[in-house]
Amino acid sequence: MTYQVTARKWRPQKFDEIVFQDHISKTIRNSIKAGRISHAYLFSGPRGVGKTTMARVLAKALNCLSADGPTEDPCGTCENCVEIKEGYSFDVMEIDGASNRGIDNIRELRENVNLAPIKTRFKVYIIDEVHMLTKEAFNALLKTLEEPPEHVVFIFATTEIHRIPETILSRCQKYLFKKIPVETIVAHLSKIVEAESYKIDKEALYPIARAAEGSMRDSQSLLDQAISFSDGTIKEEDALSILGVTTLFSYIDILNCIAEYDRVKLIDEIDRVITLGIDVQRYVSGFIDVIRSIRLISGGITLKDIIGFSDEEISRLKAAGGKYTDEELSLIFKIASELEGGLRFSTNERINLEMAFLDMLNIKKSPSVASILKKLSGISGNMDNNIAAGAPQDQKTGQKPDGSSVEDNIKSLFHGEVIE
Ligand SMILES: Nc1ncnc2c1ncn2[C@@H]1O[C@H](COP(=O)(O)OP(=O)(O)OP(=O)(O)O)[C@@H](O)[C@H]1O
Ligand SMILES: [Mg+2]
Ligand SMILES: [Zn+2]
Repeated sequence: MTYQVTARKWRPQKFDEIVFQDHISKTIRNSIKAGRISHAYLFSGPRGVGKTTMARVLAKALNCLSADGPTEDPCGTCENCVEIKEGYSFDVMEIDGASNRGIDNIRELRENVNLAPIKTRFKVYIIDEVHMLTKEAFNALLKTLEEPPEHVVFIFATTEIHRIPETILSRCQKYLFKKIPVETIVAHLSKIVEAESYKIDKEALYPIARAAEGSMRDSQSLLDQAISFSDGTIKEEDALSILGVTTLFSYIDILNCIAEYDRVKLIDEIDRVITLGIDVQRYVSGFIDVIRSIRLISGGITLKDIIGFSDEEISRLKAAGGKYTDEELSLIFKIASELEGGLRFSTNERINLEMAFLDMLNIKKSPSVASILKKLSGISGNMDNNIAAGAPQDQKTGQKPDGSSVEDNIKSLFHGEVIE
């Protein structure tokens, strides 16, 4: 048997197999049940979250032969279902908007639209990346959308809904696909891993799911890579060296270096990340996510849809976060966010990374605003006491009876126990 990549092999064939887009499946199923078929659907959302998959299931639902009319439960085995699944149905056409973006392509489409379907009830045109069409092509398309033949259904898919003219949008039923949370991706990958008997620890699925940034397809490609690179059982640490995705270990190491003011280890860790060829932008956005999660977790928020970490990782995050005040974490977050922005224009990512992380290290050395305020209130308390005891400071020199000035005291804040 030939090897099939996971994303293709595991493409959902029914509405209820498409995870995390239930809000869409449910509405579409209900409208099929009620016999309300639209002539134009628009699926928008990030890449790899099920738009094309949903379009194909809808095409099957409209044309499945197991019922007399459109059904919310396509059988998957009739001639129409099989042809649509395999992609050779005459009546269900997938058109790539990026490579057929001109007026001529749409003119040709408009001529074909009028011909009745050969084997199916509905001719379905799935136009992917529809935002790539030219203005003229959109205008031509609009004419068809204004008076679509009874037997035609358009399904447009796009990652950039804002690039689609309002005139087109207003003629479509619009559905917004969501990014898939880490926990949901991990659960789905676990099912695949079990069914395929892959040797990979569940903990290793977390860095994979996080690196996929909400895309199920990306998570499945990363899983394929991990499986093909390794012959033994893949553990969490392996995810880093095999895939160039960062495990939590690296971030926790960095946080520990900052907490312990260990410059050498910090620079070492950065060197390791760069040498492994890890995507720096991704690394930093992962770090930002870690800081955010620590702050939320310390605030008592551990909702799975909000925090993309396993229970075990959450306890590791708690331990690392325990070395910081919320104020320090907030400063670290700010530096990391600036770093993330700066990296876009950077020609030397290593330097940006080193400088930003060294700045974070200094946070631990600087007195916090809270500790300064506390000290200052102590000083003013002392001054009040002195005044009350009839020993006012000299108005001109600011000297107190013991010879020290307020300025001396503030200086001591920065050179005394706070800094050392
Ligand atoms: N919601 C989902 N549930 C289960 N599997 C999914 C889901 N979304 C994506 N996948 C997996 O990813 C593969 C690709 O998904 P699909 O082609 O539907 O993504 P897409 O949203 O159309 O992406 P693009 O914008 O890049 O075209 C599917 O074959 C399937 O294996
Ligand atoms: Mg697609
Ligand atoms: Zn069928």
